[in-house]
Amino acid sequence: MSKARHVAIIMDGNGRWAKKRHLPRAVGHQRGVEAVREVVRAARRMGLEALTLYAFSTENWRRPEEEVSALMGLLKRYIIADLEEFIANNVRLKIIGNYKSLSADIVDLLEDALAKTAHNDGTTLVVALNYGSQDEIARAAAQAAAKGEVTIESIGAELDTAGLPPLDLLIRTSGEVRLSNFLLWQAAYAEMLFVETLWPDFTPAHLEAALAEFAGRERRYGGR
Ligand code: FPP
Repeated sequence: MSKARHVAIIMDGNGRWAKKRHLPRAVGHQRGVEAVREVVRAARRMGLEALTLYAFSTENWRRPEEEVSALMGLLKRYIIADLEEFIANNVRLKIIGNYKSLSADIVDLLEDALAKTAHNDGTTLVVALNYGSQDEIARAAAQAAAKGEVTIESIGAELDTAGLPPLDLLIRTSGEVRLSNFLLWQAAYAEMLFVETLWPDFTPAHLEAALAEFAGRERRYGGR
């Protein structure tokens, strides 16, 4: 039995959730943010050290402009609405991915939130934004090479996730069984959990069940 320290989630199925109800996709994303809010609160209550959420991938730019701007708008509103709660509850925000190439208003908002939560030492909420794992690994390897040493440790130290606890559990919702360029390096020894639940229906009880399942798994890291 071991307790998970770092959980990551590929939040999939917002579009299908909306389609099933004959609602616009944007409503599925809105309900997705409500699920984010409750799951982040639960992660803090359950004492997770880090929760990493895949909010926007480098491939998501291929979606229609209207959907991309709806997602960016939702992210902005979530940070604005919940920043005081993060501060009050000792939640530290961290962003992974090339967020600096997003629009200036979002970059400013994120940097303000990062600065205001930087000294918190409770749960770290890691939001993957404009994130692609292959891109992250290539950037980290180039940095390591520039410093003259390419090893597993030196690459790991240059990844966007440097300093976070090792990834214990990777969850993907909505029944899809793939990693979609998310935390490929970090997932080397992570447990995987693929659940049928669509992201807007994912609740703190689902997170609790996932952590219980993790605690019951035997991890051997290649040994026996
Ligand atoms: C997958 O659903 C979800 C996304 C591409 C984005 C996830 C983003 C949010 C939940 C909102 C913003 C994030 C934060 C952290 C506030 P999909 O559209 O791929 O669903 P489908 O596969 O059913 O079409």
